[in-house]
Order: sequence, then C-alpha cells, then structure tokens
Amino acid sequence: MYDELKEIIEQSNNIVFLGGAGVSTESGIPDFRSADGLYNTKIKYGSSPEEIISHSYFMRHTETFYEYYFENMVYPEAKPNIAHFALAKLEEMGKLKAVVTQNIDNLHQLAGSKNVLELHGSVYRNYCMECGKFYPLKDIIDSEGVPKCECGGTIKPDVVLYEEPLDNDVWNKAYKAISEADVLIVGGTSLVVYPAASLVSAYRGNKLVLINKGETTYDHLAKLAIHDSIGRVFSEIM
Ligand code: APR
Repeated sequence: MYDELKEIIEQSNNIVFLGGAGVSTESGIPDFRSADGLYNTKIKYGSSPEEIISHSYFMRHTETFYEYYFENMVYPEAKPNIAHFALAKLEEMGKLKAVVTQNIDNLHQLAGSKNVLELHGSVYRNYCMECGKFYPLKDIIDSEGVPKCECGGTIKPDVVLYEEPLDNDVWNKAYKAISEADVLIVGGTSLVVYPAASLVSAYRGNKLVLINKGETTYDHLAKLAIHDSIGRVFSEIM
C-alpha cells in the first residue's frame, strides 16, 4: 500500500489534497462523526451540535452559539501535525497544487502550505455584520457574551454554518484544481457533507487515493483506500 502511494506521489506534479477534520485530530482537535467526535459528545444545551452551528441558531441564540463555538470549535493552541507538514512539503517540491480543506483551524497555513482553499472558512477571520469591520480571533476570543463591534454591530465568524452557502470564489478554485488534478488524495473526511463531498466527483483522473480511518461511500472508486491514521501514513511515505 505505502509503496504504491509513494510511487503515485513520486510520479506526479499535479496532486490536489481534499481534507477534513480527521487531518487535525492528531493535533488535538476532535472531529465530528467519530465515536469521540463533536457530534457524539453529550452537551449541556437543549439542541444538538448540528442545530447550534447553524445560521438560524446563530441569529436567534447568538450568546449560546458563541458559548458552544468557543468551547468546542476554536483551538488557538493547536499545532500542525505530520500530515500538515507533509502536504506543505509536497507543495514546496512543486508536486502538490492545492490543499482543499473543510477545516477552519488554519493548521495547513501554519505548517507552511500556501495555496489553501478553505471551503468552510476560518475561525481566524471575523467580521461585523453591520459595518463589515474585520476582527482577528484574538480580539474576540475573550469577549464577555456576544462579541460586539465598535459600531455596536454583532461580530460573526467567517465560518460556513449550516444553512449558509460556501464562498463562490473558493468553490470555483477548488472545483477547477480538482477537475484538472492528475492525482486526488482525500484524507480525514467522512465525505458525508455536501457540497464539499461532491468535489470527489469533479476529479477526472484515475488515481484517487483515500486515507481515512473510517470507510467512506467513495472507497470503491479509489485506486488506493488506506484505512489508517493519516499522520502515520505520511510518516511512512515521506
Ligand atoms: N487519520 C485518518 N482519518 C481520521 C483520523 C486520522 N488521524 N481521525 C479521524 N479520521 C477520520 C474519521 O474516521 C472520519 O471518517 O476522519 C473522518 C472525519 O469525518 P467527520 O468527523 O465527518 O469530519 P468531516 O468529514 O471533516 O466533516 C465535514 O461536517 O459538520 C460539518 O462543517 C463540518 O467541515 C465539517 C463537515
């Protein structure tokens, strides 16, 4: 398995990576749907995590949204792991053209990746809903209650919540990179959330690699489906 993956990577200069929360679990950030993931963790609020991180919940219960969000979705101390560094190295070697991620933790950029397409945004970008003023995470993370702009408006994270559309420009760039890729490596994602998961179908090559602890519905399409920790896989092949 590893030798085959090594060869696929060695022979290509047009690799794209599509990743999810499983890329960051080895950095101490829980994923969503694993047994110990966020969506399977009992919480003290009346609603489920998926209900809380939605647009309508944010608008109606902003304070509770932020309580959950800061407690469960923001990890300012998290550091990139082997997988993040390996992908940054492949980009530096001119082999990897883009990282397309569903993650909002900025760890790919921290590891040195330059072309990172954040389908679901980033906790590090926050904007006033009234005047549009930008606020870095450090300016809002310790706010008492709902973070407010100096103009009085409510500050919202630049994170795609349920019921919200993805950024068109990011989507188009991700779609183009994947549709033109020679090799698509998909890692650390259950591929159950759309439209992100549909990007696998935009891939036109015949070298789809899946690196995921759990099975996905796309495994049967893969040239290689490796069910293992992504950090371990990259440490074996780099
Ligand atoms: N190595 C490889 N795979 C891993 C690892 C690891 N170290 N840790 C977890 N995984 C796998 C799990 O088995 C699971 O299949 O990563 C996958 C993570 O899947 P999800 O928890 O569903 O996360 P993700 O696919 O990123 O979710 C997509 O759902 O709630 C929304 O917006 C949220 O971006 C998120 C989207």
